Amino acid sequence: MTGSSGLSSTEKNAYEREGWFLSPEVLGGELVAAVTARIEELSAQNRPEVVYEKGTRTVRAIHGCHLFDDLCRRLVRLPALLGLAGELLGEPVYVYQFKVNLKQPREGVAWPWHQDYSFWHHEDGMAADRAVNIAVHLDEVHEKNGPLRIIPRTHHLGLLDERPRDGGGDWRNHVSADLEYTVPDRIADALADEHGVLHATGPAGALYAFHPTLVHSSTDNLSEDRRALLLVTYNAVANAPERPTRPEFLVSRDTTPLTLAAAGAL
Ligand code: SIN
Ligand code: MN
Repeated sequence: MTGSSGLSSTEKNAYEREGWFLSPEVLGGELVAAVTARIEELSAQNRPEVVYEKGTRTVRAIHGCHLFDDLCRRLVRLPALLGLAGELLGEPVYVYQFKVNLKQPREGVAWPWHQDYSFWHHEDGMAADRAVNIAVHLDEVHEKNGPLRIIPRTHHLGLLDERPRDGGGDWRNHVSADLEYTVPDRIADALADEHGVLHATGPAGALYAFHPTLVHSSTDNLSEDRRALLLVTYNAVANAPERPTRPEFLVSRDTTPLTLAAAGAL
C-alpha cells in the first residue's frame, strides 16, 4: 500500500537524507499495554521463535509473532506503522520480519555496530535495500536501558560489513550478541566522528523508521528498566527474495501486499 499516513515531501526527503525519521504519532497507552502483555505471554512460552541471552533463560527476543498471533497480525496493518512504511517505500509492501528485542533489566546484552541489510542480502538474497524498519517503543527508552544508537546518513555508503568469524550460516548468529555481520569498530568510530550518533530515546509508544543500510548498535541494559523494542521490517513486494532458506519466523514467505487496518482496529 502507499500514501495514507500523509507524510510531506519535506519529511520524506528528511528520511532519504538522514536514513531515519521520527514519526509524529505516538501509539496509545492501551494499545501499547495490550501488545506488551501479549509479547510477555508469548515469550514465556517454549517456542522456536524465542531467543535467550547466551547461556541463560533470559529472553533476548521473540520473532515472527505476526505469523501466529492475531493481535500482532493486526498491529502490522495499522496506519501508524504500515502507512508510514508504504509512504517511505512508495510501493506495495509486506512484512519481511517482525521481532521484539526485550533487553531485560541488567541482563539485556548489547548489539554491536551493524547494518540489517547485510543479513538480508547475504543470507536471504534480498536484491536491493528497498525495505524499511519501523521501530516501536513498548517501554520507555532512556540513556541507561540500551537505546538504539544510530549513525545518520550512513545508509548512503552501501554495505560496510566484515565477517570476523565463521558463523556457519547459523541463524542464531544473526540474532545474538555475537553477530555474524558487523561494521568494525574502527569504521563505526570514524563514521560517528563524521556524522555524530543519535540515541533513540523516548516514551513508550514512540515510533520511528530507519533504513536497512543505516549503521546502528545498542549497549547493554545498565538499568533496572526493561527496554522492549518492537521492530517490523516492511519490504517492497517486488523486492522479495526468491529462495530464502532461513526459518519463516526470520523471513516471512507470504509476500501478499498488505492493506491497512482501520486506525482503531485493535
Ligand atoms: C536493539 O534491539 O537494540 C538492536 C536491534 C537491531 O539492531 O535491529
Ligand atoms: Mn539491526
